[in-house]
Amino acid sequence: HSNITNEEDYIIKDELDNAQEQLKKNAAFANKLFEALVKRYPFSPRSLYGKAQALDILAEQNQRNDLLQKALEYYIKALELNNIPEYLYKIIGERYIDRTRFLGQYNKALVVHWKLIRKFPDNPIYLNILAVTYLTVNYVEEARSVLKQVLIRWPNDGFALVHYGFILKTTDNLLQESVSYMSRGLKTKAEGVIDGRFYFHLGDALSRLNKPEDALKVYEEGVKEKVFMSKYQRSLYNVPRLTGKPWWKTKDLPTYKKLFKALKDNWLKIRQEGLAALNSQGYFQDEAENLKDTGTWKQFELFSRGRQSKKNCDKSPITCSIIQSFPDASSCKRGQTKFSVMHPKTHVWPHCGPTNCRLRLHLGLKIPPNTFIRVAEETRSWKEGDIIIFDDSFEHEVWHNGSDFRLVLIVDIWHPELTKSEKMSLSYI
Ligand code: LMR
Ligand code: MN
Repeated sequence: HSNITNEEDYIIKDELDNAQEQLKKNAAFANKLFEALVKRYPFSPRSLYGKAQALDILAEQNQRNDLLQKALEYYIKALELNNIPEYLYKIIGERYIDRTRFLGQYNKALVVHWKLIRKFPDNPIYLNILAVTYLTVNYVEEARSVLKQVLIRWPNDGFALVHYGFILKTTDNLLQESVSYMSRGLKTKAEGVIDGRFYFHLGDALSRLNKPEDALKVYEEGVKEKVFMSKYQRSLYNVPRLTGKPWWKTKDLPTYKKLFKALKDNWLKIRQEGLAALNSQGYFQDEAENLKDTGTWKQFELFSRGRQSKKNCDKSPITCSIIQSFPDASSCKRGQTKFSVMHPKTHVWPHCGPTNCRLRLHLGLKIPPNTFIRVAEETRSWKEGDIIIFDDSFEHEVWHNGSDFRLVLIVDIWHPELTKSEKMSLSYI
């Protein structure tokens, strides 16, 4: 079924094959060859496909989206031919969706999604990839309805099962149901299901359902499938070579010595600013990531993704100016600086941060007894005016069993083993 040459193209197959061969060696030359072929045979599927591919490769090589845009036009022309072989139609359709997604041109992608679905109604893959496009643009209800359709006709489709379960977990917080779908989906090991997000949320749902042994099995399976670095370190945006350990000592981090000293020397002023914000309306916000089991937990954010919050820094100028003078904190694109207040009877579920590229420092500001944080297998508490440092890509859990609120300043810093250019080029989280 891998035929891309129709009857008419068969007559010029040698020429097509020759031009195709050139794509790998010299895309600019192949582009000329296909250009000539398209002129002579405007309805030749392979000529249009080759022309599109040449432009696609040149766009990649020269980082030129205008060339990619042209490539897309040729791909579409090929899809509009009525004599195009099915296999070629699939390849082109899938590539077109991949490239329009890359460009953020989701409406264009949708047109081809529907073409593929209409042409191959008996293959669930085209409904599934439509659901992924919907999820990418946060059209969760559209994704849900497409996946439902798939599961009515193909109840054991692994890809649809994990994605449907993922929606039940992350949008509806339906833990039991999400476990059923995601675990059935993962068992199929079908293409596209071995993905950290599904192991992450399946384990999390099990852990919240009070089934820690089952969660652990999922995490160990995730390690085996190489989606997690270890059963405790389950971040999904990683630089693999970085040293990972749950707790760090200040003396492990000599390059941050001045930051630690500045925070400790000024902790009373920092506390003063945190308390002042607590006593004003509109600064501290509820934690918004659904990490909390019980209680009240709020944060007052000063820096996030390497940018400062003007309004909040006006409220808390000393703390901000200290952080500002340490670019490895203030410019940490994969972290935040924030005050964190936790009230009595709060429990934060075990969870992992998104990346191993940062370390998380807590400066204790107001620490009542009976407040704890566990990272991996070791539980500690805070001291006022002192610093603890952990890697929040490792599983951690927090309890407040005391009787007065707890206040800390959280400062995320780049992992010390990252290079300057990595810090520049890593994507924002
Ligand atoms: C966390 O990073 O999840 C917690 O340690 C935050 C906090 O306020 O303790
Ligand atoms: Mn956390």
